[in-house]
Amino acid sequence: MIIRITTRLNLLPRLSKSFCTSAGTVVDKKPKTGIVMLNMGGPETTDQVKDYLLRIMTDRDMIQLPVQSKLGPWIANRRTEEVQKKYSEIGGGSPILKWTNTQGRMLTDALDDMRPESAPHKHYVAFRYVPPFTGDAFTQLEQDGVERAVIFSQYPQYSCATTGSSMNAIADFYKKRRVPSNVKFSLIDRWPTHPLLAQVFAERIKEKLDKFDSKVRDNVVILFTAHSLPLKAVSRGDTYPHEVAATVAATMAALQVPNPHRLVWQSKVGPLPWLQPYTDDAIKAYAKQGRRHLVLVPIAFVNEHIETLHELDIEYCSEVAHEAGIEQIERVATPNDHPTFIAALADVVAQHLQHGPSLSNQFLTRCPHCVSQRCEASKQFFWRLVNK
Ligand code: FES
Repeated sequence: MIIRITTRLNLLPRLSKSFCTSAGTVVDKKPKTGIVMLNMGGPETTDQVKDYLLRIMTDRDMIQLPVQSKLGPWIANRRTEEVQKKYSEIGGGSPILKWTNTQGRMLTDALDDMRPESAPHKHYVAFRYVPPFTGDAFTQLEQDGVERAVIFSQYPQYSCATTGSSMNAIADFYKKRRVPSNVKFSLIDRWPTHPLLAQVFAERIKEKLDKFDSKVRDNVVILFTAHSLPLKAVSRGDTYPHEVAATVAATMAALQVPNPHRLVWQSKVGPLPWLQPYTDDAIKAYAKQGRRHLVLVPIAFVNEHIETLHELDIEYCSEVAHEAGIEQIERVATPNDHPTFIAALADVVAQHLQHGPSLSNQFLTRCPHCVSQRCEASKQFFWRLVNK
């Protein structure tokens, strides 16, 4: 099935499909199926950095701070200048909106080919911390009059801090307005072991391994790196660590190489303990052990953003690795618009539309130690949403 889909897809961009927007764009065809692409988003310009940080620091699904309504804004203010400088160093802003729109257009074109019965398909971007926000996406989707809406997390591995936060934002949005009775909703909340996702990571890694001299190639250490998580969240029962590990295992199985590999964690903030080993510490430690050839694989991001373009490329590959005496380090590109990745997105959605379920039991089940009333209310909302 997967091979058939990969070869059937015409992944060249099309010019003919356009849709009605609230801004009055030309209408060709009314979309029948909306695909709502959830992600955190990133500031497009340095002017957006302050509000972006403020929204993150006051989101209790993402981070829990004492007296959050005061401490959150204080931290956001304090970090704004430093974070603006980082965005300046990668060209002035995050490319995540550009990539998500590219992926959305290619995904919906592929779906139009694969599933004429649910076409035309249209994508909607729903970011958590910068525009276009969750509410913008759902308002537009209602205005377009879609019959079917698939809420599709762009985090392949579920975490209550990421996908969970976006889901809670959707539940919040519909607290203040009526759920449209003529739209059938469903959710794709995770897809960490999809074979084509593993395949695209494997293909990206292979490209980088080929850059090493054949004498050292099989001994290059493959370091899979993902955003870390506070240990408090892990102890609550967040599924993210084992879902990331599942993607790593599926990728190594697809890659079929003898190289050693490890999963390490990046982007910790604040003084509390987070998942370790940290990516920069692992690079230094391997250098000390004499393992001086490394490949870094961002395994939980589907498109480039600050954690890959700045933290991995500038801070770790250029600075940390150089100072540690690493001889060669290569950073694998994120999936972006790789044809195999677009085929993965299309297959995930097509299988979902064909076979369901509308909502997974895994999503409906709260973490064993969850104490958040928001999570409880949100799970109940989604159960009602897909069963209305
Ligand atoms: Fe995981 Fe609430 S913290 S469901």
